[in-house]
Amino acid sequence: MSHDTLLLGQTLSFDSSPFENGPEAARHLTHGGVLIRDGRILETDDGATLRAAHPQARVEDHGNALLCAGFIDAHVHYPQTAMIASWGKRLIDWLNSYTFPEEMRFADPDYAADIAGRYLDLTVANGTTTVCSYGTIHPASVDALMGAAQARGQRLLAGKTCMDRNAPDDLRDTAQSAYDDSKALIEKWHGQDRLYYVITPRFSPTSTPEQLSALGALWAEHPDLLMQTHLSEQVDEIDWVRSLYPTARDYLDTYEMHGLLGANGVYGHAIHLEPREQDRLAEVGAALVHCPTSNTFIGSGLFDMAGMMAAGQRVGLATDTGGGSSFSMLRTMAAAYEIGQLRGCALHPSELLWLATVGSAQALRIDQHVGTLAPGKEADIIALDLSSTPAIAQRANRGGDIWEALFPTIMMGDDRAIKAVWIGGRAVALA
Ligand code: GUN
Ligand code: ZN
Repeated sequence: MSHDTLLLGQTLSFDSSPFENGPEAARHLTHGGVLIRDGRILETDDGATLRAAHPQARVEDHGNALLCAGFIDAHVHYPQTAMIASWGKRLIDWLNSYTFPEEMRFADPDYAADIAGRYLDLTVANGTTTVCSYGTIHPASVDALMGAAQARGQRLLAGKTCMDRNAPDDLRDTAQSAYDDSKALIEKWHGQDRLYYVITPRFSPTSTPEQLSALGALWAEHPDLLMQTHLSEQVDEIDWVRSLYPTARDYLDTYEMHGLLGANGVYGHAIHLEPREQDRLAEVGAALVHCPTSNTFIGSGLFDMAGMMAAGQRVGLATDTGGGSSFSMLRTMAAAYEIGQLRGCALHPSELLWLATVGSAQALRIDQHVGTLAPGKEADIIALDLSSTPAIAQRANRGGDIWEALFPTIMMGDDRAIKAVWIGGRAVALA
């Protein structure tokens, strides 16, 4: 009992989705509190009420800072950390010129461990407490990230990227080795502490039909696991997929034909979908992940958030580091807003924050564990300074409701807005 911690500040959390119920889906308390016990949230309520009811708790007063759930980044490539913001290419050339050469360096486990630590430092400094990452083809790339997350007590999802064609010699596995290595990594990591393994074929162009089938068979043996891949990101890519899989009805069908479509499937980008693909994704209850800074950086296109939500799709939000140009989910929310504007739909700040927390948690099927400040959830919490720079402060200090106070930080904020982070109830030392 003596180990209870009471965080005081403004609190903001969701009871339901603002896409369904508007901003009222959120619960905001100006003088709120979050009571943490044994790494979990015991209660979120009025701060003074909690203080009176739990006089033994150690109190941390964060003043006017906004306490909310840690950000969840639903699609990243941690091995691309050191080549983020590489200039001048579109998807296929970008992969060949920048991505594959960097991913080859992960044959060295020491390099993988170095980047894994660097990546988790950068993301937590940006308020991200959980990511779902691709590795490289090297199993040791998954060991490095899983090991680093385990040491930090983080909830994290990751998988070995599988590719057996259209990639350099040193960056190809085979159908059999992809199956065997993925299976061994499932046994080693899945369900250890807060870690989940994700079956990870990179995308249809870099897998033979045999490899997709082998991974479909592995998924059928482990149907509770997530399977992540890329879908319909760029028009040239879709044309290439059509030529590689002439009998497939469309891009999504290249996955479905090989047992890689299901309710636990997580499909990155999903920008240029055919009506049949949209219907099929909604029918099976698969998740889509919107990666807005990546889509503008690589020049891929404008995700149809309003259309996807109206169609009942499950949608998460992600940086797609290092196709995405930022490690920050604040910057990512801003880019989602801008893409929404270009499509004629102004996403409300409640919708943006929901996507970066609950939406991603639901897409990754970890929403029973994280994503809100509800009792029982793991205490992955951040404190946001809503006046973190002079430019934001002069805009935010004009009064108004919580959404008016928060929106300038969403649009203009960065790691300077992240005042404190707790992972599993433990304060993280930020650099
Ligand atoms: N499609 C296949 N691989 C990748 C990748 O690493 N990044 C992005 N943005 N798209 C991809
Ligand atoms: Zn990606």
